[in-house]
Amino acid sequence: MTRTIHDSGAAILLVLTAAGGALVGFACTNVDSSKDGVASSMMAEKNEAGLSLSSASSLIHNNRTPDDPKVEAGEASILAGQRIFRFDTFGDEAFWGGALKLHQAIEGKAHGGFGAGVSPKTALAVGLKVDAEAIPRQVALGVKSGKVSLDDPATTLALLTLNAVVGVTGFFKNDGSLKSLGVQCVFCHSTVDDSFAPGIGKRLDGWPNRDLNVGAIVNLSPDLSAVGTFLGIDEATVRTVITAWGPGKFDAELFLDGRGMRPDGTTAATLIPPAYGLAGVNLHTSTGWGSVPYWNAFVAVLEMHGQGNFFDPRLDDTVQFPVAARNKSGHTVVADDRVTPKLAGLQAYQLAIAAPVAPAGSFNADVAKRGDALFVGKAKCATCHVKPLFTEPGWNMHTPAEIGIDSFQADRSPDKRYRTTPFKGLWSRQKGGFYHDGRFATFLDVVNHYGATLSLGLTDAEKADLVECLKSI
Ligand code: HEC
Ligand code: HEC
Repeated sequence: MTRTIHDSGAAILLVLTAAGGALVGFACTNVDSSKDGVASSMMAEKNEAGLSLSSASSLIHNNRTPDDPKVEAGEASILAGQRIFRFDTFGDEAFWGGALKLHQAIEGKAHGGFGAGVSPKTALAVGLKVDAEAIPRQVALGVKSGKVSLDDPATTLALLTLNAVVGVTGFFKNDGSLKSLGVQCVFCHSTVDDSFAPGIGKRLDGWPNRDLNVGAIVNLSPDLSAVGTFLGIDEATVRTVITAWGPGKFDAELFLDGRGMRPDGTTAATLIPPAYGLAGVNLHTSTGWGSVPYWNAFVAVLEMHGQGNFFDPRLDDTVQFPVAARNKSGHTVVADDRVTPKLAGLQAYQLAIAAPVAPAGSFNADVAKRGDALFVGKAKCATCHVKPLFTEPGWNMHTPAEIGIDSFQADRSPDKRYRTTPFKGLWSRQKGGFYHDGRFATFLDVVNHYGATLSLGLTDAEKADLVECLKSI
């Protein structure tokens, strides 16, 4: 019997296993009871728990292919991918430190930079997370007792030395001051379980950081002229655009089309999506730009500004992607490619991150079951959100009209469509709202939208059942 238990809502998963059992799950969830599913989801759940993947080896061996060197090579690739996902900057410190000089803003004047510096309190306030497991016991005790000040930028520097700030790496000079600063995938695609204090806890890889205010962090830079030059706009406009993003959002298309705002004057940024529950899904991102390795190369090179090659002639379209076409972003070639060799491991790891399972008690199972009958029946949800992927097997794309929304974001992508969200783990990312830009604040808003768009004729009671079903996914 395999069972996933949640530790008092802290979302720490423990996996109790005994070989050969079936997985337990609710009607609305994606639970796969096939033998293959047992082995792979056990491995992935370990992974999701942020625990060592080394035990994945024994799970695979117990369940499938003992002593198969190919399987071992696969595990090594997943582990390598986890390291890349968590710690690799791909050389992007040349941008975040070199061009934006963010390290100087963080250390402050007292430590060789400028301004007041960034205290841990300020860092936590803009949504940065601290990996409690990277903090030595003495330091942790000091934080608890107040001896280690969370108001002092020097403590931020100490945390960076310990590699404890999730997704941010400091590069230090011999004298202990900061030389540069880079970011990783987990900057946006991880959070922590808050088990030590709010914003401080164990890593939850793949969870979107819906507290992270990327725009506010970038706005700390004293010099955004490089971004302005790239986009072909002045620095003040850059600051207006990124400040409008707000928490949990980022605009990956800004560096392609330079469109900072929607026609109605609100931000063009989209929600940071999860990087869990993606195995089996064809196209990725809300507008289906490509596969996981496609998007990983895209984001590492064009967004994080890591040093790597990237190829996509679709970006040569001077009307749709004026900024990318002008900068020849789709033909990026560098002398020292630090991205391409890592794509295989990165992909293996992301596909191994299982979506977290809704904790027992967080929804009413009987009502959710009724909602599930509607999900696959009268409400027609499963025509697009096909279980257990919750997206279509095949080309998982739809026109804006099919889902009853405007085409603004779709038009910023090559296929001009929206991708059916593969929403495993939906319960765990309700903060920030739903749909690519968070336009629907609650599950009920989403259900009401479909009710109207697809003329579903749902009663209020049926809508409530559907909402309970969504909470269980
Ligand atoms: C600055 C924040 C940020 C960083 C850093 C970042 N991403 Fe993302 N990621 C996003 C946003 C925002 C999207 C949604 C883009 C869209 O829908 O147009 C996204 C989309 C994705 C998706 C698609 C998920 C889906 O629903 O199909 C994957 C996979 C992904 N990122 C992986 C990565 C990896 C791997 C890295 C590191 C190489 C990375 N990201 C770095 C913000 C970020
Ligand atoms: C025609 C295909 C289609 C149908 C039918 C459909 N969906 Fe969707 N769904 C989509 C697409 C496409 C998106 C992505 C929209 C976006 O990102 O703007 C989506 C997004 C969602 C989201 C947001 C997930 C997130 O993480 O933001 C939820 C929740 C959802 N759908 C629930 C439902 C429910 C409930 C039904 C049935 C009442 C349903 N869908 C029917 C295609 C469909």
